[in-house]
Amino acid sequence: MATATTSAAANGAPGVPLFLLLLAFLIASPEPVAAGDTNNLYEPCGDTAVQRSDGFTFGIAFASKDAFFLTNGNQSVQLSPCDRRLSLLNNGAQLAMFRPKVDEISLLTVNTTTLSNPAITNGGFMVAFAGRKYAARSPPAFVGNNSFVVTSFTLVLEFQKGRLQNLYWKRDGCSKCKGNTNGQVCLNGQDCAFSTNSCKSQNGQIQNGQVDCSLGIQLAFSGTDKHYTALNSWYEVSHLRQYSLFGLYSNLRNSLTDQYNNLF
Ligand SMILES: *[C@@H]1O[C@H](CO)[C@@H](O)[C@H](O)[C@H]1NC(C)=O
Ligand SMILES: *[C@@H]1O[C@H](CO)[C@@H](O)[C@H](O)[C@H]1NC(C)=O
Ligand SMILES: *[C@@H]1O[C@H](CO)[C@@H](O)[C@H](O)[C@H]1NC(C)=O
Repeated sequence: MATATTSAAANGAPGVPLFLLLLAFLIASPEPVAAGDTNNLYEPCGDTAVQRSDGFTFGIAFASKDAFFLTNGNQSVQLSPCDRRLSLLNNGAQLAMFRPKVDEISLLTVNTTTLSNPAITNGGFMVAFAGRKYAARSPPAFVGNNSFVVTSFTLVLEFQKGRLQNLYWKRDGCSKCKGNTNGQVCLNGQDCAFSTNSCKSQNGQIQNGQVDCSLGIQLAFSGTDKHYTALNSWYEVSHLRQYSLFGLYSNLRNSLTDQYNNLF
């Protein structure tokens, strides 16, 4: 399979609370782009309906877990990061934005080595989100703390009639790190993580390790677009061996791909 490469830097975000933007790249899509992009919504906190050839903008916010919840008495509700009732700004949140092509398998990378911010060292979590009236947000996923960093994730974007309904992290237990020798450990029975000591650098600090602990997020789409056409990339991902896709992203830094090559 050939690899076409698109690269999209993080866009500015009108209408979003002003968190710091992370350096974020969208890398590679396995199929060439045929039709044009008809979606002219370029910020995550708005509503749109998409078709297969469109780009779709969504955000990922990084903050402590509590920062994603509004607590009122003994009730705690997870809100979308677009909701101004969350004071994410005051909680050191950072935001990355992406615009992948709908129904193309993409690998997003977030370079965490330059973050000199507590988003990750303070027990950082991330939430993927898009939409305002139809606000969808993923559950918070643990990214890292002083001791561990989780570097690989799969995010599924589920659409119905072209509207984003749901975002969720697809996990397969710790099957990737069971019994392998690249220094990963299994956290809470669900995430493979590196010890921060094995990272090259993290949160602006030089460490002594060899591993590039940047985040890799594999994206897949499911459901239907606004013409009721089925979105199949999730089906493809789930039927490929987990992480076999990383071999396609030839322009990722070797240090990053090597981690994944070691896994199969
Ligand atoms: C939560 O608060 C409500 C109203 O104050 C109360 O009736 C309920 O018992 C509380 N639930 C728990 C689990 O504490
Ligand atoms: C992340 O940024 C650091 C510092 O600029 C750089 O050395 C490293 O190669 C980058 N990693 C990736 C995967 O691009
Ligand atoms: C880091 O996170 C792991 C996994 O949740 C946890 O077991 C560990 O206690 C945390 N360490 C610190 C210093 O918070």
